[in-house]
Amino acid sequence: MADLPREHTMKVVRGGTIVESHWAAPADLLIDDGRVVAVLNPGSEVDAAAEVIDATGKLVMPGGVDPHCHVGFTSGEFTSLDSYLECTTAAVFGGTTTIIDFAIPRPGQQPLNAAEVQRAKASSGLCDSALHACVVEWTDTTADQLKTLADGGIRTVKMFTTYAGETMANEHTILNTMQATRDLGGMVIIHCESDAIVTDAQNLAAVSDGVDAAHMSQTRPELAETASVAAILAIAESQNAPVYFVHQSTPAAVELVADARKRGLVAFTESVAHHLILDDSAYEGEQPERFVCCPPLRSAEVVEKLGRHLFTGHITTIGSDHCCYDTAQKQVHSHDVRHMPNGLPGVETRLPVIYSHYVDGLGLTASRFVELTSSNPARTNGLYPRKGSLMPGSDADIAIWDPELEWTVTTETLHMATDYTPYEGHRLRGKPVTVIVGGEIVVHDGELVDATPRGRHLEAAPLDFSGAFSM
Ligand code: URP
Ligand code: ZN
Ligand code: ZN
Ligand code: ZN
Repeated sequence: MADLPREHTMKVVRGGTIVESHWAAPADLLIDDGRVVAVLNPGSEVDAAAEVIDATGKLVMPGGVDPHCHVGFTSGEFTSLDSYLECTTAAVFGGTTTIIDFAIPRPGQQPLNAAEVQRAKASSGLCDSALHACVVEWTDTTADQLKTLADGGIRTVKMFTTYAGETMANEHTILNTMQATRDLGGMVIIHCESDAIVTDAQNLAAVSDGVDAAHMSQTRPELAETASVAAILAIAESQNAPVYFVHQSTPAAVELVADARKRGLVAFTESVAHHLILDDSAYEGEQPERFVCCPPLRSAEVVEKLGRHLFTGHITTIGSDHCCYDTAQKQVHSHDVRHMPNGLPGVETRLPVIYSHYVDGLGLTASRFVELTSSNPARTNGLYPRKGSLMPGSDADIAIWDPELEWTVTTETLHMATDYTPYEGHRLRGKPVTVIVGGEIVVHDGELVDATPRGRHLEAAPLDFSGAFSM
């Protein structure tokens, strides 16, 4: 699709520290016509007409790329509550300037049709978006549909090993889809939980402690995740196909992927913010249903071990797995998690909670933060260096962070289309204060200063992992 014309105000971001995935240095940034034009020595002379954006004392980062974001997602009887405009507005407030949504077929719908429906929404977004396709069942037409999708820049294909009777794919479908996407310059991305182990655990809970939200952890054990990851790695290995595991929540699962990489597989781990920050004590609180997600929140010990893999390099990306349900939706079946809408709102909080906890708190470098939350999501999705970088030629999607700003997360200060945040009351340090989308300032000091929907559907380039990027 041709790019829409954009406004043309040359701007210079002055006095800040530019943070890229492999370096950080004091530098000025010249932007024009929606793109980065130059990285300049601090104080360099520029066109007198250029608008100056003062970034003194700030970190100038490529805007976040959220690789895992469900927008207006229908699953069973529930639809999450946001439009593209609402989701991307919240994203931009949180420093994310590209979201990657899922086109998950409804019962009876084909992957291609599901993608066409979601793709049409991109232009209502405040920022750009891309799509993952999804295959539930391999049919006579799936190969052709995947080819059409890849030709249109949709090259990542989601599958689920759980949610039987809904979106679960069997091993034949998974293997065939891996073959096809491999040959199309794409990649399978997969939600791994053994459906048999989950079903058994749910049945056991139903006749013992209960399947209400307070017992969420019990219904989806860690072993369900690791068993499924091992099985899927074996299929990927048999096909020499790249594979990306979404929302890995246990260190054991991450380590299976790291071991596979040592054997030469192209395999990636995504973790999501809530598995890196929150733990299963949330299910002991007053509103456990607000924390019901798959995989569930794990023990504090597991969270701590998972977080260490941000430092070892075994985690490639951090997503949000944003699902914008509200408390009322979560409460309808809170007595039985088997019927609940799964997922937590998080597109806006992903970057600030990770920055505060891991960069400010535990010493993860700002460059590694950019790598995990922006550059690697762009790389694994065929969007780099257009996204995830501030190199000349990259889109001028920029988050200017105040690393010292202290603030408290409250639902009222957020912009997601729901009535709660799982981080209510969390005290954070560091926040994006100015966010630039396509060269225009969209958010400044907590205000939406430009509400023009500029969203474009981004076409992924063929994935090429031969020059494997550092992780
Ligand atoms: O709980 C979750 N993650 N819900 C969204 C669908 C999925 O499995 O990613
Ligand atoms: Zn999932
Ligand atoms: Zn998800
Ligand atoms: Zn019910």
